[in-house]
Amino acid sequence: MNFEYAAAPESRSVVKIDPEYGHFINGKWVNGSAHFNTINPATEEVLSRIALGTAADVDAAVKAARNAFDKSWSKLSGRERGKYLFRIARIMQERAREFAVLETLDNGKPIRESRDVDVPLSAAHFFYHAGWADKLEYAGVETTTAPHGVVGQIIPWNFPLLMLAWKVAPALATGNTVVLKPAETTSLTALLFAQVCQQAGLPDGVVNIVTGDGSTGSAIVNHPGIDKIAFTGSTEVGKLIARAVAPTNKSLTLELGGKGANIVFGDAAIDETVEGIVNGIFFNQGHVCCAGSRLILQESIADEVLEKLKRRMDKIRVGDPLDKNTDLGAINSAEQLAKIRELTAAGEAEGAGRWSANCALPENGFWFAPTIFTGVTQAHRIAREEIFGPVLSVLTFRTPAEAIEKANNTPFGLSAGIWSEKGSNILWATQQLRAGVIWANTFNKFDPASPFGGYKESGWGREGGRHGLSAYLKGSAK
Ligand code: NAI
Ligand code: MG
Repeated sequence: MNFEYAAAPESRSVVKIDPEYGHFINGKWVNGSAHFNTINPATEEVLSRIALGTAADVDAAVKAARNAFDKSWSKLSGRERGKYLFRIARIMQERAREFAVLETLDNGKPIRESRDVDVPLSAAHFFYHAGWADKLEYAGVETTTAPHGVVGQIIPWNFPLLMLAWKVAPALATGNTVVLKPAETTSLTALLFAQVCQQAGLPDGVVNIVTGDGSTGSAIVNHPGIDKIAFTGSTEVGKLIARAVAPTNKSLTLELGGKGANIVFGDAAIDETVEGIVNGIFFNQGHVCCAGSRLILQESIADEVLEKLKRRMDKIRVGDPLDKNTDLGAINSAEQLAKIRELTAAGEAEGAGRWSANCALPENGFWFAPTIFTGVTQAHRIAREEIFGPVLSVLTFRTPAEAIEKANNTPFGLSAGIWSEKGSNILWATQQLRAGVIWANTFNKFDPASPFGGYKESGWGREGGRHGLSAYLKGSAK
């Protein structure tokens, strides 16, 4: 018998979207000279027109941030800065529903995730850093407690509001002022955040938001008036930025790509592990830098895990992101969908076995069924490159040493997972794995107190926790 769920749509009426937006500079809305569309990737409906920031817009924002740093923000005590952060956090909570619906409309992620993960975690980052603002001397950081000054921040589209919070909260807590650029496909929640800054009475120019594309980002990176750059996005653009910043005095932190290994030992609790695998790769459509995109299974349990995983994947509900029953929403853009299609086609061409969940995909918008590839070898592109979609590559191992060798055989080093009932297995494996974040018997767990970041091509520096504070203080390594 087929028991279907009734639709449970979240109301769209809680958000008001303007037909066109400008930049938020010096506490005011400034008209843009050119605009581009932002769409709902689940329907392809145009939601609004976003301003394409020019070098002149970036320059105005940097001047406003410098002026605010010199005249107001650097004059405040940590305690006073903390009050603003608390106020921002509380307003984000009050307007949580608005943020969640807007994020889902602009990004395509399920409302269940924007409501229960993105927005509460964003507010939590402001609360956490509000607490540090007047305690920097006690944080035990290996730097001075003096801020850099003006910070340029460039963020991606996979967690638009959350990445803004990861960037803005520590910058303000440590006394810096900010010029931030959201990703071109997901500017709306950053623009709503600008309204929150106004509502909180944040002094003009402390937070400036310039929307736009890579050219706008590049104008931020190359602006001589900026003291520090913080970037989250692709490894390719991260390398460009590292080159641009190298001959300057700017500090730099980079959060880049990943190809996380999720290792399952033969003694793991299989049903819990299957849930963890699903969360590891299908959370946020797999648009997650720390996704567990390489499943590394001990041979003894591989068949059982794969059978249960496929059964579970057939139950993943793909569709309308605003429906509260939806597990997997829309792929963020036509470009990202094309990239996922290209890499999965390469997986088949190179000889891996493809299996996709049996689900109906909506006609409009950008969609990709949850997919796994078995028989993947380390030479395959789908084992080496970041797919950034709901696609899992499965490899197997016989001995623990082989598992570690495969897990570490990647240019990245952001995250890893270990599934085992044995503490000694877990402790041994965590010491061998070259990854910044390692989860044991869980996956994709985030907390503002926990530092996050990578080794190798996954980036430089840490965000969150005490370690993340240092990056926003003078004396931090480049
Ligand atoms: P991207 O790296 O081009 O975009 C990230 C941000 O950088 C955006 O705000 C963009 O406007 C900006 N940007 C682009 N070019 C720039 C430049 N030359 N200088 C300064 N800023 C620049 O990432 P994209 O093209 O959206 O995605 C491509 C791939 O990157 C994805 O398929 C995925 O594999 C990976 N990616 C990884 C992310 C992560 O969190 N690690 C986030 C987004 C993408
Ligand atoms: Mg790009």
